[in-house]
Amino acid sequence: MATLAPHDPSPPSHVPAGHLVDVDVYAPPRIAELGFHRAWRDLQASSPAVVWTPRNEGHWIALSGEALRDVQSDAERFSSRVIVLPRSVGEGHGLIPTTIDPPEHRPYRVLLNAHLNPATVRGLDEGIRRTAIELIEGFVADGGCDFTARYAEIFPIRVFLAMVGLPESEAPTIRHWASCMTRPGMDMSFDDARQAFFDRLAPLVDERRAQPGEDMLSAMMAAQMPGLDRRMTRDEALKLSTQVLIAGVDTVVNFLGFVIVELARDGALRAQLRAMGGNLMPAVNEFFRRFGLVTIAREVRHDIADFHGVPLKAGEMICIPTQVHGLDETLNPDPLAIDFARRRAPHSAFGSGPHMCPGQELARKEVAITLEEWLRRIPDFALGADADLSPVPGIVGALRRVTLTWPA
Ligand code: HEM
Repeated sequence: MATLAPHDPSPPSHVPAGHLVDVDVYAPPRIAELGFHRAWRDLQASSPAVVWTPRNEGHWIALSGEALRDVQSDAERFSSRVIVLPRSVGEGHGLIPTTIDPPEHRPYRVLLNAHLNPATVRGLDEGIRRTAIELIEGFVADGGCDFTARYAEIFPIRVFLAMVGLPESEAPTIRHWASCMTRPGMDMSFDDARQAFFDRLAPLVDERRAQPGEDMLSAMMAAQMPGLDRRMTRDEALKLSTQVLIAGVDTVVNFLGFVIVELARDGALRAQLRAMGGNLMPAVNEFFRRFGLVTIAREVRHDIADFHGVPLKAGEMICIPTQVHGLDETLNPDPLAIDFARRRAPHSAFGSGPHMCPGQELARKEVAITLEEWLRRIPDFALGADADLSPVPGIVGALRRVTLTWPA
């Protein structure tokens, strides 16, 4: 994602009056002033359910929770062939299983689900907790830390590298390549970063195919693909493992940033969490509703005469900013408020439909363990004077640098 494409200011003639906006989905209007989630909520509150923007080569944006859910859940009408905007960048994505539609998508998902299911993730609990404790104890006595550099950027990557059997020392490189595939303006193009992943993973894939280890990657490559009666090919294994690495790394890192900033600013919220004792899952679910952060897209398969008030043409792109679903006030009253008493509050932080995140159990576990171990050791903390909360543009919403202080 080295550069954003120039934009053509003239919308197609079928875009109805009142549905045209000028929005770069990687930097929505007023984001610098309001922050990532409030800027998206502001755009949603002032716009119809579906709008057209000429930016990023021109595309629709589903802004209401229902429109967003309808796009994600309907693979008959909306294809995942291209999921990254602008289309010229997304065309080359080609990773597995994100860019494959059902029914071909299913065998890969059965494999992923089998290795990321709740029982498997429960088995990782101890290792995840050990990693969290080790990191926090490394700086707790200092009375402050750069949370982004010393915790968020390390913790999920360490958990993940252990799962796929890569050494921890590779975390910075992997994080860098992942960022180049999810953010505009980086020093490597999307294609070059993907190639770097393939080059790094190829020897690992070959080794594990020949002699499977105990790790998740080995297990997936050794398994028969359900319904196909064969193992994954080398090419499929490279595309799938690259996708899992990117998906598991950038999301948790940045999500933790949003949550910890909110907690640093709100002592009452910290007190509520501490009072919950060991069971932080309802709180974690509410944080996912409030802080969704993945902005992806679908390609319209066939003309649709009326989709939430607009006509869509085959081949057009429609953006699905997953963060807006949980922020829709018609579905979640007072959506910006964090309320741990909400039950089954609808949101799409993990997507929905056939591509819904297979890593969500792991992500929830990582966040819950972080909060438990953090609050146990650092019950009260505030934002550091040198925190830089400016938003970083990209497919995954992010804050530039979260620093924190607490009584040493
Ligand atoms: C904060 C944490 C996370 C968030 C917010 C998140 C969000 C999402 C979303 C919105 C999708 C749907 C993409 C689509 O519809 O095209 C997705 C898919 C995916 N996620 Fe996650 N994710 C997170 C963590 C993880 C983790 C920890 C892993 C891996 C262990 C993971 C692996 C994947 C994979 C492989 C897919 C593709 C699934 C498919 O196409 O069928 N994610 N994620």
